Amino acid sequence: MPPALPNPPVRAYMARMTRALTILGIESSCDETAAAVLHLQDGKITLLADVIHTQLEEHAPYQGVVPEIAARAHAEIADKTVAAAMRDAGITYADLDGIAATSGPGLIGGVLVGMMTGKAIAQAAGKPFIAVNHLEGHALSPRLGGDCAFPYLLLLVSGGHCQFLEVRGLGQYKRLGSTIDDAVGEAFDKTAKLLGLGFPGGPAVERLAKTGNPKAFDFPRPLMNRPGLDMSFAGLKTAVARAATEAPLTEERLADLCASFQAAVCDVLAGKARRALEGFDPGEGESLRFVVAGGVASNQAIRAALEAEAKDFGGELFAPPLRHCTDNAAMIALVGAERMAAGEIEGIGDLGAGARPRWPLDKASATLHPAYATGLKGAKA
Ligand code: KG4
Ligand code: ZN
Repeated sequence: MPPALPNPPVRAYMARMTRALTILGIESSCDETAAAVLHLQDGKITLLADVIHTQLEEHAPYQGVVPEIAARAHAEIADKTVAAAMRDAGITYADLDGIAATSGPGLIGGVLVGMMTGKAIAQAAGKPFIAVNHLEGHALSPRLGGDCAFPYLLLLVSGGHCQFLEVRGLGQYKRLGSTIDDAVGEAFDKTAKLLGLGFPGGPAVERLAKTGNPKAFDFPRPLMNRPGLDMSFAGLKTAVARAATEAPLTEERLADLCASFQAAVCDVLAGKARRALEGFDPGEGESLRFVVAGGVASNQAIRAALEAEAKDFGGELFAPPLRHCTDNAAMIALVGAERMAAGEIEGIGDLGAGARPRWPLDKASATLHPAYATGLKGAKA
């Protein structure tokens, strides 16, 4: 007698577990036009192509992202970027299982370009379209660098966002706290702008901070000692602005300002991380994983401060590879692949989905605290 087959739900689950998926991802929500091809099988990720074109030159004269310029620049190269990724992967559209594109949150003109490109390819190739939340891309991005199992505590720090989240599984995100004004990356960018360091500000501030004295200026650590996990960075930026006008900006003073600013950011993030780690219960038998993701996760001083906190609690810090901290399409393809593998995408997929300038990962918290759902003034607003 042949062995009994597992029941239908178990069979469907097993089919999904073993099905190899090849997904094209497209990202265009801010100032990176990116396309990637990712292969997922049994939880193993292989990146077949990973093209990222940054619009630094286009926005540098304005020391910030100009939405209209970004949208036009995306429109000019979106098709070429996708073609380059497909060429690198050495496959045709017929070989794909789905096309995933960032559908929000972000600068709406750019989001529309990437989404329409993805939808057009999906329709022409007869493949499902997957509308991806950009923040979910960042949330899963550490998995691009190696094993990082659920559940984990996540600190998402980018140009438009700054929040602590509990990540229990795919699609299970609970926001624990967030900035009440500027995002951290935004604070880096604005500080760099007022110090005349160019754009993007984060890398420039980090570079100068290396030679400066972090104790030269006693900048505020807003909300650090208040209960809860909400953060604030607007006052810190104002304090830097004031200090910058008090004396001529010599090279040494600039470096001191950057180092002192960065030290204040590190203290606030580490302080809040400590509180978040205290309250985070990974569950019976699970080890403690703390993830930092988003553009600001490239910052080595911030990584080191967060790593020390994770270690203090007997946990481990995970961060995406540097290339996948800032915006990229590999993380978008990954979300698409994971959602398909979980059986969430059927038929034409999300072909009817619209572009969303705002799209909180944790809708319930955003509804409960509407002030935090809107009003962020970062590059993505
Ligand atoms: O994730 P991302 O590429 O875009 C958003 O989704 O917002 O993040 C970009 C942000 C910018 O604000 C940039 O200044 C910041 O990440 N950033 C850094 C560093 N590299 C990029 N901030 C601090 N230190 C860095 N090394
Ligand atoms: Zn981003």
